[in-house]
Amino acid sequence: MEKRATGAKNAIPVSRDIDGDNDEDNSRISRDDSTVNDTARARWTLLRQVLRKKQVDSPEMKQVSVRRFSSFDLFSRKRTVIHETSNTSDDQWVEYRSVSLPKYSALLRVHLGPLKVNEVLNSFDNTGNVCVWPSEEVMAHFCLQKRTVFKGAVCELGGGMTCLAGLMVAICADVREVLLSDGNEKSIHNVRELVDKNRQSGVFSSTSVSARVLRWDCDSDISPLEGHFDVVMCADCLFLDQFRASLVDAIRRLLHPKGTALVFAPRRGQTLALFCDLAQQAGLVISQHQQYDPYVWDMHLKMMKEGKEAYDENIHYPLLLTLTKGPQTVSSFK
Ligand SMILES: C[S@@+](CC[C@H](N)C(=O)[O-])C[C@H]1O[C@@H](n2cnc3c(N)ncnc32)[C@H](O)[C@@H]1O
Repeated sequence: MEKRATGAKNAIPVSRDIDGDNDEDNSRISRDDSTVNDTARARWTLLRQVLRKKQVDSPEMKQVSVRRFSSFDLFSRKRTVIHETSNTSDDQWVEYRSVSLPKYSALLRVHLGPLKVNEVLNSFDNTGNVCVWPSEEVMAHFCLQKRTVFKGAVCELGGGMTCLAGLMVAICADVREVLLSDGNEKSIHNVRELVDKNRQSGVFSSTSVSARVLRWDCDSDISPLEGHFDVVMCADCLFLDQFRASLVDAIRRLLHPKGTALVFAPRRGQTLALFCDLAQQAGLVISQHQQYDPYVWDMHLKMMKEGKEAYDENIHYPLLLTLTKGPQTVSSFK
């Protein structure tokens, strides 16, 4: 177990954290209007990308974006053609296969088409529809390594457009039930389709797998599931100031008294530390881990040494937090 650390000094603007457009316009927003809240900044940057018709995966975006570091390369990706009348020409199905445990793979649809202006302005947080963030990929890898520890019912919160980690648990672990969730309807529409595709390909055995919109701040979403889950997990969900307290509350309520929550997130300025403070205030017992997997740690050290231009530990290296409801609960994930 490692000691809790306080957040990094010199927090950088969240809009850069999320989508990483650190060009002149963005710094002007940060300098001139410090009262604009974090979500507004994030939405503005996404909107600006849409209006400029930039694809976030385009080569020029990779150059300027903090997403220039986009993966720990824990999964190989192979385009897969799925012949079905319901598929549109925009559909891009990709087989994600674990590099360390290649017998485990999942079919994902990772390109949901360009973000539309009205989606960015009117719909709920769209950061989960941009890409599979490195923390999600790392969490999926970690779940594969720890597959024998999972049991019972598992819930992923804020899983974005793929819920890759929850999906991998459904594929590799002997669990009764996996609920994949996010607050964004478009994300969940996609997750439902990929659950169907993976079910058809026969990877789930007897596990019951479902996907639904679940908002951390919505009591009617949380109440019916109170105390239900042996494992609750989420990746890169700590940066939204207005939802951090409701995320803590959702984790606490959804978790079985003897359950464990796994939270993967980069430090991102003070955001991880603020989450830890709230979780402690809510009575949760937290451990913070920096070296939780040898492969990810080696990759991190290599990037720190050789990839300084692209890699910033503060926004790219996910720490692992394990949370339990009491000190008497020994988490098997440590
Ligand atoms: C940065 S994305 C991370 C997505 C995914 N875990 C990944 O790492 O690729 C944050 C996710 O949190 C979700 N989210 C934000 N606020 C939420 C809330 N109040 N309730 C449920 N989901 C929320 C967003 O929809 C988004 O998918």
